Amino acid sequence: MKKPHLEQAYGYWKELLKPTDTVIDATCGNGHDTLRLAELVPEGHVYAIDVQEDAIANSRLRVSYPHVTYLHQSHTVLPKTSFKLIVYNLGYLPGGNKHLTTQSDTTLQSVQLAQEQLEVGGALSITCYPRHAEGEIEEKSLQRWFGQLDPQSWKVVYHFWKDKCPTLFFIYKFKN
Ligand SMILES: C[S@@+](CC[C@H](N)C(=O)[O-])C[C@H]1O[C@@H](n2cnc3c(N)ncnc32)[C@H](O)[C@@H]1O
Repeated sequence: MKKPHLEQAYGYWKELLKPTDTVIDATCGNGHDTLRLAELVPEGHVYAIDVQEDAIANSRLRVSYPHVTYLHQSHTVLPKTSFKLIVYNLGYLPGGNKHLTTQSDTTLQSVQLAQEQLEVGGALSITCYPRHAEGEIEEKSLQRWFGQLDPQSWKVVYHFWKDKCPTLFFIYKFKN
């Protein structure tokens, strides 16, 4: 398997989503994840967010379905709607400026917002890249955040591949 973290994440999304669900791609980048999501919710809606104009342009080229809305903004602001799944693929834009990476403080702000707006029965899917400096800080601060989630309402699954860089968190909300 070439990218086990992606295959694992896609498997979770497929299992979770119904065709009519609303989902958010909080870091749409080059649009690979947006495409997967759009195919999984053909009668629902995908909000695809990125701070970089290039990322939005790249994603639009890859995915131009009418049920995908692009938002050129930080994910510290989310669309005012509830949703079934929010996806974060952290780090920098592949092929872009490696210094424009996600930051732990804004990522934490975003997941805290997402925690409130997420539907019961929904999930956050977060891919981290702890082998670069900011990625390591980001993963540690996310782990602290998960650590204080109420286990009566949340189930946190953590995937770590011994020889691979990315790690994957899948966090289910099963009760308010
Ligand atoms: C690893 S890439 C995402 C890859 C993408 N999911 C794909 O399938 O191609 C991370 C993206 O996060 C974006 N990003 C960084 N900080 C952000 C923020 N505060 N809000 C939204 N997007 C952000 C970057 O511009 C970059 O495009």
